[in-house]
Amino acid sequence: MPPQPHILMCPPDFYGIHYEINPWMDMSRQAEHAVAVEQWNALHAHIRAAGARVSLLEPVPGLPDLVFTANAAMIYRQQALVSRFRHRQRQGEEPYNRRWFSENGFEVVDVAENFSFEGAGDALFCGDTLYAGYRMRSDAAGHQEIGRMIGCRVIPVELVDARYYHLDTCFCPLAEGEAIWFPAAFDQYGQRAIREHVGQSLRDCRFRVRRGGRDYMEPLIEAEQAEAERFACNAVVVGRRVITNTGCDRLHAALAERGYEPIATPLDEFVKAGGSAKCLTLRLDGEEAASWRSH
Ligand code: ARG
Repeated sequence: MPPQPHILMCPPDFYGIHYEINPWMDMSRQAEHAVAVEQWNALHAHIRAAGARVSLLEPVPGLPDLVFTANAAMIYRQQALVSRFRHRQRQGEEPYNRRWFSENGFEVVDVAENFSFEGAGDALFCGDTLYAGYRMRSDAAGHQEIGRMIGCRVIPVELVDARYYHLDTCFCPLAEGEAIWFPAAFDQYGQRAIREHVGQSLRDCRFRVRRGGRDYMEPLIEAEQAEAERFACNAVVVGRRVITNTGCDRLHAALAERGYEPIATPLDEFVKAGGSAKCLTLRLDGEEAASWRSH
């Protein structure tokens, strides 16, 4: 039996659009508090029903984006590599994150002071390789340092579209050798890196398509633009369940074809802040565990 997945979430008591630090945020388009609470509760219920244990970070007045726990840290084994936010508006979250991790049995690890690093929002394992998004919120040099600290291979990918400012808005590992992505969020170099490296563990890719009488392995599922804008790539993966915002039907069909169980749950109130399912969660049993390996 694989260990039970463990996820950190933060209730949206003080969530709202109080500033604008990404193109989705518009203070004149406020989140509806009661609806946000309902949507968050439904996501929480889906995650528990998928078999995960959920721990909660206590919400703090004046820190509306604390709900996006993906940005609290990157977890590797018992280490919490805590975030250093790019924007002043979110830097107030840092002491609360540190405190939660140290009180809950994690070793708090700092990345060098001169780099910004936004945790699992920008650093995702696919197999044992760390894919690291940079430019918008995290610095490439910081990611290399993290690779050295934990001793893993890092594939840096530049994010080129401000709407996809965190890697988890345009890339989602599903299992070793399988991921969802939105190619237009990357430059040519990043696209090539993802194609080559996710595909490199081809022996791990279970999905094959038949073309011209031959079987081809297909490691990547491409989200189309309309669904990428619904945060299709921002999925919570718990075992075979893949939970996303509503309006990602084509992606869900592709997932079902590969043996996953896609689940749609409305998260529009969080899209107003530039986040969705994955951003509202942090894998505590290690980001590298956040994919389906039981095959
Ligand atoms: N308003 C938040 C920000 O701009 C949203 C964070 C979404 N988190 C994520 N992991 N993509 O920082």
